Amino acid sequence: MKSLVFATNNAHKIREVRQILGSDWNIQSLAEAGISSDLPETGTTLHENAEEKARAVVHLIQLPCFAEDSGLEVDVLSGAPGVYTARYAGENASAVENNQKLLQELCDHQDRSARFRAVVALWWNDHLHFFEGVINGTIAHQLDGSDGFGYDPLFIPEGYDQPFARLPPSVKNSISHRARAIEAMAEFLKQRIPNE
Ligand code: IMP
Repeated sequence: MKSLVFATNNAHKIREVRQILGSDWNIQSLAEAGISSDLPETGTTLHENAEEKARAVVHLIQLPCFAEDSGLEVDVLSGAPGVYTARYAGENASAVENNQKLLQELCDHQDRSARFRAVVALWWNDHLHFFEGVINGTIAHQLDGSDGFGYDPLFIPEGYDQPFARLPPSVKNSISHRARAIEAMAEFLKQRIPNE
């Protein structure tokens, strides 16, 4: 089976990527690859953060690996929280606190349009390769649903009338920003790895 290390210990992201890639791939988390250190995330763009995490892991294991950085961009907030999505309500903010802050920032706004963006940095044959995925949608007026993570109870993808947290994971994982970036990476790898 083909193996890749995914430079994260975020159990939600790992689960989603395993579902997106299916059984052809063995995806290892950082912990499963024997890496216990936290990865740096000091960039000012998703690309910089994805690159920084991928390089940190390659430095430690010298194996094919990829990192992903993602964020939510809200139009009336000029693209915020963007690269700071995980820390929107403060350095160690919970998902609920982040969601509440977003609702507060948008309380006077009718325009709720937003998008999730994911950038994947893949280390392959001594080079970094980038893949990007975007899903457009809107921010709901209240939290709804319990599936998923982060802003899933607020983000309603285009073409649906329920947030990610209410949609079956199989739906989210066929249309999400992460699905689109990871599928682009899988297509790239398919061209380069001979069929077994
Ligand atoms: P990072 O990529 O780990 O730096 O953090 C991205 C942050 O964006 C996460 O902590 C979540 O809050 C949010 N996020 C990214 N992808 C999703 C998603 O698929 N659903 C909900 N929130 C997400």
